[in-house]
Amino acid sequence: MLVVLRALEREDLITLHKWQNDEEIMRLARSFPDHVISKEALEIEFARELKGDDTGRRAYIIEEKSSNKPIGWATIRIHQFQRRVTTADVGLALGETTAWGKGYGTETANLLLDEVFRQLNLHRAEWWTYAENNVSVQLAKKLGFKEEARLRDAVFFDNRYHDLVVLGLLRQEFESIRTAPETSRDKTVSYLQSP
Ligand SMILES: CC(C)(COP(=O)(O)OP(=O)(O)OC[C@H]1O[C@@H](n2cnc3c(N)ncnc32)[C@H](O)[C@@H]1OP(=O)(O)O)[C@@H](O)C(=O)NCCC(=O)NCCS
Repeated sequence: MLVVLRALEREDLITLHKWQNDEEIMRLARSFPDHVISKEALEIEFARELKGDDTGRRAYIIEEKSSNKPIGWATIRIHQFQRRVTTADVGLALGETTAWGKGYGTETANLLLDEVFRQLNLHRAEWWTYAENNVSVQLAKKLGFKEEARLRDAVFFDNRYHDLVVLGLLRQEFESIRTAPETSRDKTVSYLQSP
């Protein structure tokens, strides 16, 4: 185990504030390089989660297991507009760039998918990113997501339009990857660990 997902605490808002005002992180995480947010606005955004209300969104802090240090944040957003709830968006960002490329993103995403399919019993996971975010697209595909849609010129930043890519993973696809022999897939973790 490389990472632990734990609940967001009020003290984390300071670190989240740093990450969510970082141009590079927010370009990649939200297609929004000029994103700026005050501590107070962040506190308002996460007020209900901090109180433990069920908002349909689960917000996690990703901690590096070896150091117990926060390295990023992750969310699961359950689609609320469906007649029958079937789908959740998964999102993650490693705010500490020194943590990139070490397998932390893969393990975090697997933990989120475990929660979506094996705890929440949902049918579909969605992954949204802009088309040039190669690492994000490659990670999603490595996990078994398939590109399902490309929304042309759907976001504007850095003085031009960019396509958005929507990738989807069905529960049976996730399970068939998970139950495949170890040699034919990447080694994955299979549970959401508490701190
Ligand atoms: C995207 C992100 C979560 C990936 O996490 P990570 O820990 O760096 O990625 P991993 O080390 O687990 O690698 C996962 C896969 O991504 C791809 N990848 C990683 N680094 C890459 C690079 N420099 N170039 C191309 N692909 C890369 C590979 O497919 C890799 O799998 P492999 O090592 O088996 O080939 C992380 O880079 C990040 O937080 N980026 C900023 C925010 C963001 O883009 N979030 C996603 C928005 S939807």
